[in-house]
Amino acid sequence: MIKAVLFDLDGVIVSTDGCHYRAWKRMADEEGIYFDEKINDRLRGVSRMASLEIVLERASRSYTEEEKVALAARKNDYYRDLIRELTPSDILPGAMENLNELKENGILVAVGSSSKNTPLILRRIGLDAFFDAVSDGNNISHSKPDPEVFLKAAEMLGTDPADCLVVEDADAGIEAGRRGGMKTLSVKGAVGADYFAPDLSDYSIFRRIIR
Ligand code: BG6
Ligand code: MG
Repeated sequence: MIKAVLFDLDGVIVSTDGCHYRAWKRMADEEGIYFDEKINDRLRGVSRMASLEIVLERASRSYTEEEKVALAARKNDYYRDLIRELTPSDILPGAMENLNELKENGILVAVGSSSKNTPLILRRIGLDAFFDAVSDGNNISHSKPDPEVFLKAAEMLGTDPADCLVVEDADAGIEAGRRGGMKTLSVKGAVGADYFAPDLSDYSIFRRIIR
C-alpha cells in the first residue's frame, strides 16, 4: 500500500531544466565546447560533477581535476543567478493540487533530488516548509540511478521503501526508484516505470494509483 510519495524536484515540481541548459551552454560556449539540447537531456537526474563529465565528452582537450571543479563551480554560479528569479508561479501545472490532495489524504510527501540547490529552489517557490522530508544532493554520496537519495527519503519518513511511490522525469530517477524497491510513476516520457502520465496536470493520477 502506498503510504508516501517521493517527488523528484527538477522537471517534476518545478521546471529548472531551462536554467540548467542555459548555465551549461554559457559555460560550454566560453570553453569552446559543443553543447546542445540533446546532450542536456542526458544530464537529467545526474549529479553536477557527473553532468560535467558528459559535457566534457565533446571537449577538444582534457581538463585537470582542479579545472573540472572550477568549471562546475562556474556553471553553478550561472545557474544560481537564474534560479534566484524563480517564484511560486514556476511550480508546474497540477503539482500543487496533487501535493495538497495527497497530504489531505494522509499520504506523506517528500523530495528526492540530486540537486545541491534544492534548499534554495524550495525557498524560492515557497515550499521550504511543505514537505515531510527533503533528501537531496547535499546528503548523498551516490547519484541516481543509485537509489540512495530515495532510500534516505524513505528512512527520514520512517516508511518502508515498498510503500513508496517515486515520481520522476528522468530515466536515471526511475531506475533509482526501482532499484530502491519502490513503485515508480514516470512523467514527461521517462522510461521503465510502473505508471505513466504526461505530467502532473492530471488531478486524478494519484487517486488511480493509490487505492
Ligand atoms: C538534478 C538535475 O535534479 O540535479 C540535473 O536533473 C542536475 O540536471 C542535478 O545536474 C544536480 O544539480 P545541482 O543543482 O546540484 O548542480
Ligand atoms: Mg528531474
